[in-house]
Amino acid sequence: MPETEVLYTGMSQLTTPAPGPQRGAAMRELRVIPDAALLVRGGQVAWVGRRQDAPAVSEEHDLGGVAVVPALTDPHTHAVWAGDRLADFGARAQGVAYETILARGGGIRSTMRATAAASVDELVALARPRLAALIRSGAATIEVKSGYGLDFAAELRMLEAVQVLAREMPGALVPTLLIHVPPPQGRAEYVREVCEVLIPDVARRGLATAVDVFCEREAFTVGETRAILTAARAHGLGLKLHADQFHAIGGTELACDLGALSVDHLEASGDAQVRALAASGTVATVLPGVSLHLGLPAAPARHLVDAGACVAVGTDLNPGSSPLPSAALALALAVRLCGLTPAEALTAGTVNAAAALGLRDRGALAPGQRADFLALEGRDWRDLVYTLGGQPVRQVYRGGQPAQQGERL
Ligand code: NIG
Ligand code: FE
Repeated sequence: MPETEVLYTGMSQLTTPAPGPQRGAAMRELRVIPDAALLVRGGQVAWVGRRQDAPAVSEEHDLGGVAVVPALTDPHTHAVWAGDRLADFGARAQGVAYETILARGGGIRSTMRATAAASVDELVALARPRLAALIRSGAATIEVKSGYGLDFAAELRMLEAVQVLAREMPGALVPTLLIHVPPPQGRAEYVREVCEVLIPDVARRGLATAVDVFCEREAFTVGETRAILTAARAHGLGLKLHADQFHAIGGTELACDLGALSVDHLEASGDAQVRALAASGTVATVLPGVSLHLGLPAAPARHLVDAGACVAVGTDLNPGSSPLPSAALALALAVRLCGLTPAEALTAGTVNAAAALGLRDRGALAPGQRADFLALEGRDWRDLVYTLGGQPVRQVYRGGQPAQQGERL
């Protein structure tokens, strides 16, 4: 049977970065094709160019004269959780620090108690509308972390919830095992069991493609992080870190040393960390929702790009530090708070965000890439990162199909 071919037309402009991770000044180099068309064959981009040069095919779909860009990837979310953090929000509004709340047993630990008490079905029902919002905001691919399990059984339930959701939205979700905060007692034994029991189990069951560790004073030390990530690598999983959120204790240097896919947060990174990232293949993922919500300094994305690093942007959707279910708004905030240009932000949210998940098959509209694209509401792609909230995205296409058709969203 011949593969289906559809020619998408009616594009005021098609704007795309080049495929694969882009670093430094190359993040600003977008291809902008006016009056464009896009040929999809078998779920992949087969041809892109001016409408007048398009090959003749039997099926055409007119998008109505709007701008088209690659669909976004959200490379960092904690979309599965139970309970809420509204009491923390009130306390922080009165000046109590996020780290103080965590040290007192609240914050992440309170979400862990609520999440550990929830069934897989409850977690699925809670996460589904959050993922639907992210997709509506333009994300065709979404990473989802565990990390709120109080024990290994609860951690596995989180990953099982992601697995259920991944079946509902094929090709959309990328699961990560997050080792988030150590237990108050017995942390050496906990780290050993993570390495010897949890990681092998998760790898064997195919429940995650990467392992992430929160490397921070109130969480795991550099030594503990190294041990966990070394075990992850031995089991064929990708490596990711939460590092330099409050203190630059060496997590970024460790990530670069181990060849991690990405190091995320970086609000407290200084020149040494910027240099290390610029000299490495590790993606620097910034999360401007955290700076807005917690009032932290913005990550030095401008310096990272100027130094030649590969920068990505994520929402970090979670109840404590970034209640932001919009990939488009994360990009808009990265322009305002982190000093990216609109073009850099688009690259950061597409090819570079995909690279932060080890994916090179999406994020650009070029032959051979997965046909993931956005029909925007406006005629100029820059609206996507100009608009603060609202709904700049008319339709998300994944593999050449409207993303929300048949998905229980
Ligand atoms: O990425 N900093 C650590 N982890 C999450 C926050 C989780 C939470 O507060 O519930 C983050 O910011
Ligand atoms: Fe996070």
